Amino acid sequence: MLIEFARRRLPFMVESAKKYGDIVFFKVGNERIYLFNHPDLIRDVLVTNQKNFTKSRALDRAKRVLGEGLLTSEGDFHLRQRRLAQPAFHRDRIAAYGRSMVEYADRARSSWSDGRSVNLHDEMMRLTLAIVAKTLFSADVEKESTEIGEALTTTFDAFNLGILPFSELLEKLPLPYIKRFEAARARLDKTIYRIIDEHRATGEDTGDLLSMLLLAQDTEGDGGGMTDVQVRDEAMTIFLAGHETTANALSWTWYLLSQHPEIESRFHREVDALGGRLPRPEDLARLPFTRMILAESMRLYPPAWAVGRRAINEFVAGGYSIPARSMVLMSQYITHRDPRFHPDPERFDPERWLPEMAAMRPKFSYFPFGGGTRVCIGEQFGWMEGILILATIAQKWRFRFLGSAPPEVDPKITLRPAGGLSMRIERR
Ligand code: HEM
Repeated sequence: MLIEFARRRLPFMVESAKKYGDIVFFKVGNERIYLFNHPDLIRDVLVTNQKNFTKSRALDRAKRVLGEGLLTSEGDFHLRQRRLAQPAFHRDRIAAYGRSMVEYADRARSSWSDGRSVNLHDEMMRLTLAIVAKTLFSADVEKESTEIGEALTTTFDAFNLGILPFSELLEKLPLPYIKRFEAARARLDKTIYRIIDEHRATGEDTGDLLSMLLLAQDTEGDGGGMTDVQVRDEAMTIFLAGHETTANALSWTWYLLSQHPEIESRFHREVDALGGRLPRPEDLARLPFTRMILAESMRLYPPAWAVGRRAINEFVAGGYSIPARSMVLMSQYITHRDPRFHPDPERFDPERWLPEMAAMRPKFSYFPFGGGTRVCIGEQFGWMEGILILATIAQKWRFRFLGSAPPEVDPKITLRPAGGLSMRIERR
């Protein structure tokens, strides 16, 4: 199991779900692992009985990068931090960030030329990284973005090993790797603490996420704010959680559009109805088909492809008694392709997201952003970013897939297209 699981984690999970159904049990070393493949079971873990679960121990390694940020912290501390961070993700704020999203998408589209071949996944990563740097820290950081980018790449690699459930059982970091990682983290910390100092010195709300985190006071709780270390942890978390996910969603969407010309034409008609001016945050209501395309793309290729929880106490699921300390795994990739909830699951069909169609499905048959108190805090940010980038770029360009076979999925922290995405840029 250990070898199977290490080598081919996702196919192993997909096959065992097909073979054994809604609850699959297996052991990896001493770990008792339960894979839950039914929306009701998933709802019970993420929502109904969420108090009986913690995030998995695998996150311990992620803590080396993220400290006690929202993604990795637990219990009352997590609740307090979530309350403090929430205003930074308020609707009005997201709309303001939306203007930066369009500005950066416009810059990216202006840098391309007709007929050029690119690794579109790299382009999307660069774009979403620039956006999160801008919205999180304001313009100051742009001059350092290369340095931050490099430090992040190293920390990301460590994160790949660290974030998935049980990776600590599977991988032992070799020493040179740890050294490289520590150096990268130190560089990243230096930059972030300097930016925090600059923000604290002015004490102003500069409109970015960081100043919101610095100004936040826990009025419902102890009345205090965040220390520099806490702000650093949250900033790092948002930095990491906030761009690779969206970049993947975008990459897969461009790929799917390139394979479905009729859907692509309808998408173009919707985008063109904006009359050629740059999209604005308030245009989201005028881009319902674009939203449906993105939703359907995240069904087939959910950027977060699995979440894990550890049971505190014994509990009962589907008539089985599950012992305390068991790991529960829930995979968006598997549930989103379950024919009981998504008929003809391999077909890319944005019409599934017409409100009346979507309303007929159980809630947790689709959970790209998770659920319960640990639901993604950046969900609205992610939708806004995805839709505005798609619309802005599609006003000028379409992409044609250059690979000879469909791209394979590479399930790291997020579901990447294996080997990137080789695309030719074509002027519309
Ligand atoms: C398409 C884009 C995105 C997807 C699919 C996504 C997915 C997720 C999922 C599934 C979780 C829950 C993990 C779990 O339950 O174990 C999560 C949590 C989180 N996400 Fe996202 N995310 C996206 C974009 C973003 C963005 C743009 C940000 C920030 C700007 C962000 C910040 C976070 C944070 C801070 C958490 C931890 C929340 C908590 O536990 O309180 N995400 N995300």
